[in-house]
Amino acid sequence: MRAIVFDREHELSLTEVPTPTAGPKDVIIKVAAVGICGTDTHVFDGEFEGTVYPLIPGHEATGVVTEVGSDVHDLNIGDQVAINPSTTCGECEYCLTGRSNLCRAWNGLGVVASDGASAEFVSVPRANVFVLRPDTDIHLAALIEPLACAIRGYDILPRKMGEHYLIYGAGTMGLLMAQLAPRAGAASVTIVDLNKDRLQAARDVGVQHPLTRADDAERTNWDVVIDCTGVIAAIEDALPRVKAGGTFQHFGVAPAEAHAKYSPFRVYRDEINIVGTMAVLNSFGRAVEMFEAGAINAAAMISHTFTLEDYAAALDKFRAGTGRKLQIRPNDTESRELLAL
Ligand SMILES: NC(=O)c1ccc[n+]([C@@H]2O[C@H](COP(=O)([O-])OP(=O)(O)OC[C@H]3O[C@@H](n4cnc5c(N)ncnc54)[C@H](O)[C@@H]3O)[C@@H](O)[C@H]2O)c1
Ligand SMILES: [Zn+2]
Ligand SMILES: [Zn+2]
Repeated sequence: MRAIVFDREHELSLTEVPTPTAGPKDVIIKVAAVGICGTDTHVFDGEFEGTVYPLIPGHEATGVVTEVGSDVHDLNIGDQVAINPSTTCGECEYCLTGRSNLCRAWNGLGVVASDGASAEFVSVPRANVFVLRPDTDIHLAALIEPLACAIRGYDILPRKMGEHYLIYGAGTMGLLMAQLAPRAGAASVTIVDLNKDRLQAARDVGVQHPLTRADDAERTNWDVVIDCTGVIAAIEDALPRVKAGGTFQHFGVAPAEAHAKYSPFRVYRDEINIVGTMAVLNSFGRAVEMFEAGAINAAAMISHTFTLEDYAAALDKFRAGTGRKLQIRPNDTESRELLAL
């Protein structure tokens, strides 16, 4: 089969590799769509902890079951599925205490040491396969993996009805967090991004207050402020805007060596809660259900699709910050613009 292989840091090739066959507890999936995100650029650049090259990238994927292992009895050939890329050891302190997203041997398909979905087919453990309804749009459903991360983000927030939310970054993650906020009880949602098209995307998915600067908002403080940029300047601008008693969430991934300034006095005096959120924890199945219930406007979020041949162009476009969610469709023969922006 054809696959994109990250041969080593900063080097990729479109290569003919053996088509995987199913181990007893595995499932072979013909890949329909796989989203590109910042994690792929970090893996390509050698910045992701623990990546083992050569590696087929791609962790936000959907497809159709073509083969099941001898011990898999509850899936059928032809089922449409979404793939949870996280695998964990099941044995460490965190796995054994219900926090497997913190597993010290955490392995993401297409991210660390197991091949991902930027290929015609991918092999996935049965436990990581979630069946979709036959009428679910299999391409749009590649947003289920990032949605599962967003739901984990909400699981961590101490939510109350009627709160005001401020979100930095209107990329895929900011848009997902913003669309979930009303379902978590938000009275209002404000989103800040420097990129005008991303603000248009926010309008398109129904966010009330898209702004280039939080200073232009009608409010001066918010109950919940979420950084979905990972950019230190955004974090430092965002944290002081949390209302007394409110919560700041680090959703964005800042560079490992970066530090941000904040006022410890203010955190003490106003009982500011600062929380992180990491990947997916028992939230993948709920993401499938919320996606199928129409919780997000996925069609407004995916702007371009690329063939395997155009993978490098997709990565460049992602880095340029142009377009919205970009997808690879490994079994397509042409790259397409879905939204005229
Ligand atoms: N916690 C998790 O589990 C998890 C999961 C997925 C992604 N992430 C992280 O979430 C972040 C967002 O992911 P994404 O896919 O939406 O990325 P993205 O690059 O598509 O979006 C980031 C947005 O932030 C905007 N931005 C940059 N600097 C800004 C600033 N100073 N002020 C306001 N906006 C600014 C950009 O214009 C862009 O639209 C990334 O850091 C990613 O690594 C975290
Ligand atoms: Zn991702
Ligand atoms: Zn573990």
